[in-house]
Amino acid sequence: MTSEKAHIAAELLFTADSAVALTGAGISTPSGIPDFRSPKSGLWEGVDPLTVASIYGFRQDPQAFYDWIYPLTKLTVNAKPNPAHYALAALEDQGRLKGVITQNIDMLHTRAGSHVVYELHGHFREATCVHCFTVFDAEPIIQQFLLDHNVPHCSLCGGVIKPNVILFGEQLPIQTLMVAQDLARKADLMLIVGTSLEVAPASDLPMLAGRNGAKMIIINLEPTHLDNAATVVIHANAAEILPEIVQQMENIHEHDSQQ
Ligand code: APR
Repeated sequence: MTSEKAHIAAELLFTADSAVALTGAGISTPSGIPDFRSPKSGLWEGVDPLTVASIYGFRQDPQAFYDWIYPLTKLTVNAKPNPAHYALAALEDQGRLKGVITQNIDMLHTRAGSHVVYELHGHFREATCVHCFTVFDAEPIIQQFLLDHNVPHCSLCGGVIKPNVILFGEQLPIQTLMVAQDLARKADLMLIVGTSLEVAPASDLPMLAGRNGAKMIIINLEPTHLDNAATVVIHANAAEILPEIVQQMENIHEHDSQQ
């Protein structure tokens, strides 16, 4: 059954003119980074995200944020792209995907070779002082943080430094969001991978695409509220099913070129 659905997904991707991917934390769980809402293993299990991962909580108690993000930082720094990331990079290489819109901050799409990546929720490459707004290369700050667990402070003004990841209550990077929304509007196919579609405005993008007639493929372990609107829904591990879809596309391409 799954391979039949993979074949249909492959055909949709093969015939699409402007396919775009929307990914969430689920595409990175095979890389060892937990997602947020999977039952039992999600990062929000037993934690109030609005306390530890909101900009208000950060300003009141940055140590609570850094205590929460410490294990995630360690896993992210050591994580490697998995076959799902490489499959999306291959689709871009083959001209089958215009780009990846991701909610993830782990930079694994870029490290897998995807070139057109829109990071709606920021990334770990830079960090900013919340007092004087100086922007720093995050690499040395993260290395020091992983060593001493301390809240990093600005070398210029002593203010607290925050990684350039978007916390609840913060404005998303507006340019990135606008380009992602434009890509969604122009898409004729949206490949949605590893997201519960619970957090706007990322979760609004599939309907933006759907409103212009785009078809949807959803690959997610758990059901989502958009499953009924999708042409293909595959409740499976993205790291297994995406490479299968890419393989099926190559078979279709071969068959097509022999006609
Ligand atoms: N393959 C396919 N799906 C998977 C896999 C996998 N290997 N692993 C997990 N999933 C699914 C889960 O079933 C879940 O529905 O991925 C989904 C991940 O959903 P969330 O944990 O809610 O993550 P995400 O949708 O990215 O969250 C959006 O919420 O807390 C904020 O800023 C945070 O960017 C995050 C946003």
